[in-house]
Amino acid sequence: MKTRITELFGIQHPIIQGGMHFVGLAELAAAVSNAGGLGTITGLTQRSPADLANEIARCHDMTDKPFAVNLTFLPTVSSPDYPGYIKAIIEGGVKHVETAGRSPEKYMPALKDAGIKVIHKCTSVRHALKAQSIGCDAVSVDGFECGGHPGEDDIPNMILLPRAADELEIPFVASGGMADARSLVAAMALGAEGMNMGTRFIATQEAPVHDNVKQAIVAASELDTRLVMRPLRNTERVLNNAAVERIIEKEQRLGKDLQFSDIIDEVAGVYPRIMQEGDMEVGAWSCGMVAGLIHDVPTCEQLISGIMRDAEQLIRQRLAGFL
Ligand SMILES: Cc1cc2nc3c(=O)[nH]c(=O)nc-3n(C[C@H](O)[C@H](O)[C@H](O)COP(=O)(O)O)c2cc1C
Repeated sequence: MKTRITELFGIQHPIIQGGMHFVGLAELAAAVSNAGGLGTITGLTQRSPADLANEIARCHDMTDKPFAVNLTFLPTVSSPDYPGYIKAIIEGGVKHVETAGRSPEKYMPALKDAGIKVIHKCTSVRHALKAQSIGCDAVSVDGFECGGHPGEDDIPNMILLPRAADELEIPFVASGGMADARSLVAAMALGAEGMNMGTRFIATQEAPVHDNVKQAIVAASELDTRLVMRPLRNTERVLNNAAVERIIEKEQRLGKDLQFSDIIDEVAGVYPRIMQEGDMEVGAWSCGMVAGLIHDVPTCEQLISGIMRDAEQLIRQRLAGFL
């Protein structure tokens, strides 16, 4: 399949693995890229620019295909050393960056001067247009279904993708709720030129996370995610568990008075314990509604080649058959 996204990133298939905290390590990024998609290392999971440089080198050892680094611009007071991370990306010879969170505007000159292609992930048409206006090469349009931070507009992809198609000139991929060939073909019918997957890629053989995490996704249905932190305007879609129920109880009890400090035990620093140690009740972790479509733990190669094979069949047989 050839789209502006495959051309832009020099990849075989229009499938991207989005940055994921404590999941997007070199093993997963390399496996996705080796399978013909675009794998992504999550920059901020690495504690320092030097650690990111090391992770990039590990990924180069595992693949000679293009891969990306995710830079998430957080609404925090003490900002991470973004210039240092960008230097590690440039010096590591990485040519693609996925930005997310706040606008990457401040860092665009450094990225563009280094010839890096930037895909900005955002949850609204207005933010996608802003990304286009500041020189991003593509956007990842993240619908309300998505695992992680869906923003505060709550527009699902059935509306968001065609709205983006109507407004944007740069190419975009559909993100949020994408799992299989049906997702890809539907997203492309709605105007996208590829898809970005998060949750689906966690339940793969190569994802470097504890097996409990993969099994939790396989066991979950589309009814099992919850939105937390809405009162803080930092909404996150997570898989329900004991910690999430505690957060929701506090949100209901404290209402507008809720402070981040009230839920810090359930959300801060919990990722290593969940992703690496498999302690599934210890805190809130991002997971998409798409868990309801995930029933197995294939290799990235099996997943991606299966999607592309089924997508071709869907287009040539099922859809063409209706004409
Ligand atoms: C466990 C997990 C961690 C994530 N961490 C990040 C992150 O650090 N930065 C980011 O930009 N997106 C992050 N995301 C969002 C994904 O990159 C992607 O946009 C999202 O998962 C797409 O929705 P889906 O899960 O329905 O495929 C995360 C998602 C998950 C499931």
